[in-house]
Amino acid sequence: MKQFLTLNDLSNFEQTVSEAIKLKKHPYAFEKVGYQKTLGMLFFNPSLRTRLSTQKAAHNLGMKTMIMNFANESWALEFEDGTKMSGLRSEHIKEAAAVVSQYCDILAIRAFASLTNKEKDEQEIVLKSFIKYASIPVINMESAIAHPLQVLADAMTIKEHNKVKRPKIVLTWAPHPKALPHAVGNSFTRMVKKLDADLVIAQPKGYELNSKITGDISLEYNQELALKDADFVYAKNWCSYNEYGKILKTDNEWMLTEPKMKLTNNAKFMHCLPIRRNIVASDNVLNSKNSLVIEQANNRTYAAQIVLKKILEDG
Ligand code: CP
Repeated sequence: MKQFLTLNDLSNFEQTVSEAIKLKKHPYAFEKVGYQKTLGMLFFNPSLRTRLSTQKAAHNLGMKTMIMNFANESWALEFEDGTKMSGLRSEHIKEAAAVVSQYCDILAIRAFASLTNKEKDEQEIVLKSFIKYASIPVINMESAIAHPLQVLADAMTIKEHNKVKRPKIVLTWAPHPKALPHAVGNSFTRMVKKLDADLVIAQPKGYELNSKITGDISLEYNQELALKDADFVYAKNWCSYNEYGKILKTDNEWMLTEPKMKLTNNAKFMHCLPIRRNIVASDNVLNSKNSLVIEQANNRTYAAQIVLKKILEDG
C-alpha cells in the first residue's frame, strides 16, 4: 500500500479489519517492521485521539515519530502555484513537502474543512498538495471530507460487538453548538456500505450529507423511527452540506437520550469523540454499559497500526 487517503486504498477491507483485531491481541508482534523508520505527523487542526493513537501505533511497530502543529509552530504555507509570495505566507508547499520527505519515511496529515468554501474544501488542497510534492507515502489523519482511520477503528468495534447476522446501523445527526465538518459522516457511510448491514441515516431536513456519498441509502427525518430496532447507533454532528457550513437547528430535540435508546434492539452507542455531554448525548447514554466510545478510541491504535504496517511492508 503506497498511501492511505480513503478506505479504498485498502486492497481488502474485510481482511484488514480482521488483521487489525489480531494486532490488538499481539501489538508487538511486528515491532521490528518499522526499525529505523520515522513517521512525520503534521497537524493543521487539534487532536487528542488521532495524535496519540497514531503515535502509539508507530511506536508499537518500532518507528520513531516527529510531530508538528502547523497552526502555531511552523511557517505559514503557500499552496498556490506561480504566486508572488509578498504576503504573510513564508514557505511554499513545494519546499515544505520536499524537506519533510528528507526527514521522514511516512507522512501523516490532519487538515480539516474550512466550512466556508465547499468547492475549495472538496479539492482537499492541503492533503493533495502534500501528496503531490512529498516523495514519501501519505496517510490521511482527517481531511476536509474523510476520516478513514476513525472508521477503520469503528469497523473493528462493530465487528467485535455485533451479535446478529445483519445488524441495523443508524447514523444519526445530533446537535452541536459549532459548525462541524462532514468527514466522519461521509467516511462512516462509506465504511458501512462495505459491511453486511442495513444502514439508515437520520437527520433533520437540511442536514442531508452529500448525495454522491449517501447514494441509495435510506434517509430518515424522524429520529425515533430510525432508531427502532437498531443494533448500533452512531451519533455525530455535521453542519449543513447544501447550505454549506450553516447551523440550521439549535434545539436539543435530536440529542441521544436513554428513552430514545430504549427504542432500539438494546443498541450499542458509538461516537468518534470528542463529544459534548448533554448536548450530543445525555450522561446516562455515555455512562451506560452499551456505550462503545472508549473502545472505539482504543481501536484507533490498531487501525493506525495496520495501515502503517501495510505501508512499511510495501517498502
Ligand atoms: N476522533 C478523533 O479523530 O479524535 P481527535 O480529533 O481527538 O483526534
